[in-house]
Amino acid sequence: MYNGKVIICDDEVEILRYLSKILTAKGIDLEVFSSGTALMRCIENRGLDDGDLLLLDVKMPDLDGIEILQRVKNMKLEIPVVMMTAYASINSAIEAMKLGAYDYVTKPFPKEKIFGIMEKVLERKELLKENSALKDELGIPSASTPLVFASESFRKVHEMAMLVAHSESNVVILGESGTGKELIASLIHNNSPRAKERFLTINCAALSDTLLESQLFGHVKGAFTGAINAQKGLLDAANNGTLFLDEVGDMSQAIQAKLLRVLQEGDFIPVGDTKGRRVDIRFLAATNKDLEEEVRQKRFREDLFFRLNVISLHLPPLRDRAGDIEILAKHFLAKYAARMKKDITGFTSEAMQLLTSYSWPGNIRELENAIERAAILTRGRLITPETLPVWRSPQAASEPAKHSARMVSLETVEREHILHVLKAAGNNKSRAAKVLEIARRTLDRKIEEYGLEEDGFR
Ligand SMILES: Nc1ncnc2c1ncn2[C@@H]1O[C@H](COP(=O)(O)OP(=O)(O)OP(=O)(O)O)[C@@H](O)[C@H]1O
Ligand SMILES: [Mg+2]
Repeated sequence: MYNGKVIICDDEVEILRYLSKILTAKGIDLEVFSSGTALMRCIENRGLDDGDLLLLDVKMPDLDGIEILQRVKNMKLEIPVVMMTAYASINSAIEAMKLGAYDYVTKPFPKEKIFGIMEKVLERKELLKENSALKDELGIPSASTPLVFASESFRKVHEMAMLVAHSESNVVILGESGTGKELIASLIHNNSPRAKERFLTINCAALSDTLLESQLFGHVKGAFTGAINAQKGLLDAANNGTLFLDEVGDMSQAIQAKLLRVLQEGDFIPVGDTKGRRVDIRFLAATNKDLEEEVRQKRFREDLFFRLNVISLHLPPLRDRAGDIEILAKHFLAKYAARMKKDITGFTSEAMQLLTSYSWPGNIRELENAIERAAILTRGRLITPETLPVWRSPQAASEPAKHSARMVSLETVEREHILHVLKAAGNNKSRAAKVLEIARRTLDRKIEEYGLEEDGFR
């Protein structure tokens, strides 16, 4: 028996009937909505404070579940939301988790699934009650991102970064997208004599020239059309601190010229102003372009390059520091498992093999996304290959080839393939059947037929 209240929203009568039956049998209070609009009307009137759990169907004709979830999150309602999806819409389940859904279930689901979630939710409620007093006192700890690595090549970069942090020199950080340039920049600032001052970032690629100029230098009232009020620039705001120029290789020649003056003379003039101001700023810059080549091609000013590039740090791509993949994958798994309150402890060896043999063109950001996705999809305690995006690693690709080259019967191939999928599905027969696109009953029959029980699948 549970002491709680569940709010359900689904347009399928069958599901509503099924859920009402199993939940009321456990003494759970219910509130049932058969359309998204009806639920939204109720939320707008009185919120959802009295519910412990919202079970929300993804696909509804009037208003879909993802849209409702988004509104619930925008309204900062605390209620945990569990999405109900059809197997085919697994992508919307992932989207929902990213939007902050608590969990999702694929239809049809056994009642134990819902009870399991209910238990976790109620346990969490108790914990939150206990913790809230404590949290109010201490304040929520700031989220600082730790730098994780194991490879020799990254260790050298880290050592260098810590060393230059203490100097006042400007630094250019080079590396492919997603290699950790911004993280290294903040590490340098946090370990520098300016650590107590501001660390500000501007992305030079994301802004138009006019906007970049007024953001950096600020402007006086009426400096250009639309400049209704005077605005302080980042150069003003970063005075005594550090300014990180991200994607500096995309800065236009005009802005480059203006910035050079700041680096040379230590002063600048806001747009439309007549008086200059003096500033003391440490500059860090990053780019995924080959900056020296940009200088040779005359797209980047050589004098500015030398001012910025007193020291350069090159972050190696992940494929050149394979030694980091495992430790990073574990780090991200711990992060997302904790965030999702899931008890996932590690990776199967096949999954780890897949991760370490992939080339990671999007580097650490891509790895992090892959692990987040896998954590969402994983039901068991270990991450298995089928929750990872399917990359054709050399090993995986060679397997079918191995089969076709051998002179064996179709049955042998089928037997091996079933075994392989069962293993990959973490011995979960229902999931394996789905992957194989055969009925669960058919799979049971084949397991018996091929004597796979001896291999541990009963
Ligand atoms: N060594 C590391 N340990 C832990 N997390 C890391 C590490 N390196 C990078 N990350 C994480 O990977 C993600 C990408 O890093 P970051 O944004 O610093 O890369 P970037 O080089 O600036 O990418 P881009 O060129 O796309 O802007 C971030 O979420 C960051 O926290
Ligand atoms: Mg970046």
